[in-house]
Amino acid sequence: MRVSWSLVVMLCAGWSSRIMMAEALEPISTSIAVGIAAAVTGFLASNPNVLYYFQECCRSEWISYNKTGLEEALQQKLFGQHIATHVIRKAVTGFMNNENPKKPLVLSLHGWTGTGKNYVSQLIAESVYREGMKSEFVHLFTATAHFSHVDYLNEYKRNLQQWIKGNVTRCSRSMFIFDEMDKMHPGLIDSIKPFLDFYDNLDGVSYRNAIFVFLSNAGGEKLVEVALNFWREGKEREEIKLKDLEEVLSLSVFNNKNSGLWHTSLIDKNLVDFFVPFLPLEYKHVLQCGRVELANKGHEPNEIAVEAMVREMSFFPQEERIFSSKGCKGIASRLDYYL
Ligand SMILES: *[C@@H]1O[C@H](CO)[C@@H](O)[C@H](O)[C@H]1NC(C)=O
Repeated sequence: MRVSWSLVVMLCAGWSSRIMMAEALEPISTSIAVGIAAAVTGFLASNPNVLYYFQECCRSEWISYNKTGLEEALQQKLFGQHIATHVIRKAVTGFMNNENPKKPLVLSLHGWTGTGKNYVSQLIAESVYREGMKSEFVHLFTATAHFSHVDYLNEYKRNLQQWIKGNVTRCSRSMFIFDEMDKMHPGLIDSIKPFLDFYDNLDGVSYRNAIFVFLSNAGGEKLVEVALNFWREGKEREEIKLKDLEEVLSLSVFNNKNSGLWHTSLIDKNLVDFFVPFLPLEYKHVLQCGRVELANKGHEPNEIAVEAMVREMSFFPQEERIFSSKGCKGIASRLDYYL
């Protein structure tokens, strides 16, 4: 255990001194260790870049922004979200191309279940980290799973602050995703506020290269209302503009005293850079998700199966049945019944 850990640190930092290598291999008999160390050191000295392929490191070999990759993924795999697509592309590209950001990137994704919020955070992770969501530098926290007991609030706060600090110290380009942000205790949200702010550094650590993504259903109903009104007026969904949604989002979420999210001063302090609205999905979007999922499972196109599946899903409002109640959530397992 100790051996491999030491090696990893050495690999990532690019050290290859013989002494350190011998030290790392301490548990093995010294003569063997020195022999191996000499061989490995010699090899590495002549092929230093080989190292970084073995173990994920906080280096450009593992972390670098793939703008085209993100744009293509958003274009081809995210359905019915013309506004979110636009905002995300602009936000992430702007931040990743900025060599000297004044604060970390903070995105707050809002919308009904299954509209693609989790999926988009995954796409962002994949565009920055070669390992995507599996990267050691990407951290996912879920309010109900990680921070569910109010009694432990102080412990949660301490842990969370320590984790963020520890991980950003290790790699400044770290990403933190908070799912169910609206279920997080306001005190806990307050405890991460300093990390989101415009500080040069906090205790010697700079958070300016980090990425924070908050996911919540907060404001989802209001977004549905707007989409429904457009539909009833016979307007195209694509005519909905960001400003049409920003207004309802701010009224329903930011001024709602019951929403834990906005008790905190995240908003007034402008710590969130972009609020990203996700619209409820229609029949045709769920079909599109179904087709992608089918292909992901390695099947040939099968419209009959996909349509049968989507037809049996529930849509609302009851009369018009326009929007999918669960969006594209759970489609992967649902699809199996119809194949
Ligand atoms: C990094 O975050 C994880 C939680 O995702 C935590 O378990 C770990 O201790 C943190 N690492 C450091 C060095 O703080």
